[in-house]
Amino acid sequence: MVSIISILYSINQSTLPGSDTYKGLNCRKHSALLTDFGGKGDGVTLNTKAFESAIKKLQTLANDGGAQLIVPPGKWLTGSFSLTSHFTLYIHKDAVILGSPNLSDYPLIAPLPSYGRGRDVEGPRFQSLIFGTNLTDVVVTGGNGTINGQGTTWWSNFKAGHLKNTRPYLIELLYSVNVQISNLVLVDSPSWNVHPVYCTNVIIEGLTIRAPVTSPNTDGINPDSCSNVRIVDNFIVSGDDCISVKSGWDQYGIKYNRPSQHIVIRRLTCISPDSAAIALGSEMSGGIQDIRVEDTVAINTQSAVRIKTGIGRGGFVKDIFVKGMNLNNMKYVFWMTGNYGSHPDPGFDPKAIPVIKGINYMDVVAVNVNQTANLAGIVGDVFSNICLSNVKVRLSQTPSKIQWNCTNIQGVSSNVTPQPCELLSGKGPSGCNFPAKALPIDGVKLQTCNVALPLLL
Ligand SMILES: *[C@@H]1O[C@H](CO)[C@@H](O)[C@H](O)[C@H]1NC(C)=O
Ligand SMILES: *[C@@H]1O[C@H](CO)[C@@H](O)[C@H](O)[C@H]1NC(C)=O
Ligand SMILES: *[C@@H]1O[C@H](CO)[C@@H](O)[C@H](O)[C@H]1NC(C)=O
Ligand SMILES: *[C@@H]1O[C@H](CO)[C@@H](O)[C@H](O)[C@H]1NC(C)=O
Ligand SMILES: *[C@@H]1O[C@H](CO)[C@@H](O)[C@H](O)[C@H]1NC(C)=O
Repeated sequence: MVSIISILYSINQSTLPGSDTYKGLNCRKHSALLTDFGGKGDGVTLNTKAFESAIKKLQTLANDGGAQLIVPPGKWLTGSFSLTSHFTLYIHKDAVILGSPNLSDYPLIAPLPSYGRGRDVEGPRFQSLIFGTNLTDVVVTGGNGTINGQGTTWWSNFKAGHLKNTRPYLIELLYSVNVQISNLVLVDSPSWNVHPVYCTNVIIEGLTIRAPVTSPNTDGINPDSCSNVRIVDNFIVSGDDCISVKSGWDQYGIKYNRPSQHIVIRRLTCISPDSAAIALGSEMSGGIQDIRVEDTVAINTQSAVRIKTGIGRGGFVKDIFVKGMNLNNMKYVFWMTGNYGSHPDPGFDPKAIPVIKGINYMDVVAVNVNQTANLAGIVGDVFSNICLSNVKVRLSQTPSKIQWNCTNIQGVSSNVTPQPCELLSGKGPSGCNFPAKALPIDGVKLQTCNVALPLLL
């Protein structure tokens, strides 16, 4: 196998016709194909062992320029497997990774410390299809190759209450730095699609994520207690929030105390009739701050950038900057929910009150809207320093009679139609706040890397 790796390595140094290029945080010195490790792309053979032995072997090259594992054209059935550091998983454009529908192909792992339990069911949870923990410099990318979670049986078993553990996510990385997930098509995840947790320096771009709009909890991208994150150029159709920024659940999240912060979300296109384009929460107990959202398009979506929180969560959502939204066919444009409920267990602290402040929305155009705003703070805990500027909302043919439903909030507005509620009618600046200086993660340049495809392809 070493010789195969070195042959591929030498091919990789030339740019033969038939080789692909991709953008990576780092290019790798060594390459191997899944077929070098017994992989069979027939859609029937289980490839978990092939992935595991390939990655185990390539791990030994981490300190010698790193390695990439190429998933060639074919249908590659697999259970859960784990990535390694200084490593790229490259999924060819004609390759489809198929998630096994067999529960035995997903090991059980401990709940996240900031959640205290599995999200669906108490206790351990199934490890994600593609998993990684405590890694440095890891890339999952491709020429828009596909990862299909084959979620149908998971969804029906979940809805019927047949699952004794929390469903696996499609891709989850824990405690990792320098992470890239890009240029992939993610289809029918059993639950959330992309879940970086306790990670720093994360780039997620060029993903197409699809699941039926009726499928349960198929959130697109959920950065959770992560810092320095760039989420750009993604297209998501799903049964839950297209993006959901999180930071742990009630007393467990408060104790773990790790915020999600310094996140840029740019050029998201979202379709999600029963959920938000971007949710902040509901699990936000470690805090959410400095989130910059630019150029969002949402169609047939319940709401745009929604804050979800409640008594017991604690934590904060502050310094949120939203600029440029083009919305079509929405139930709400603005939505803040202060009574979300959904507690991990009865042990939550009823005195843990979330702090919500400094929420800025500017340059919003929305058409075919039912209710412009549903903004509900918490009695005794006013959501404050809300700013709206340059907002134009056109209503649907049968809109709600009350366009601004505001309670326990405070803020200002400028150039907003229809006329905002009294609590937001103070005169605001012609443009709400937006940070002038880009985040460092925004400036990180990706390199152009080669994938040599063997001539037999
Ligand atoms: C699931 O995998 C287990 C362990 O490999 C095996 O015993 C079982 O037959 C599989 N179930 C199905 C439905 O294939
Ligand atoms: C991963 O890092 C976390 C946090 O530093 C640590 O608690 C955990 O033990 C590490 N796990 C492994 C497998 O090294
Ligand atoms: C992958 O998809 C993105 C987004 O749809 C597109 O811009 C890009 O050209 C595609 N790349 C390849 C190699 O097909
Ligand atoms: C206004 O919001 C409250 C909750 O804050 C809700 O109970 C009520 O039904 C809403 N009214 C309308 C007309 O949307
Ligand atoms: C829009 O509002 C009307 C009147 O309140 C209601 O009957 C209708 O169900 C709403 N439509 C949607 C999509 O929420």
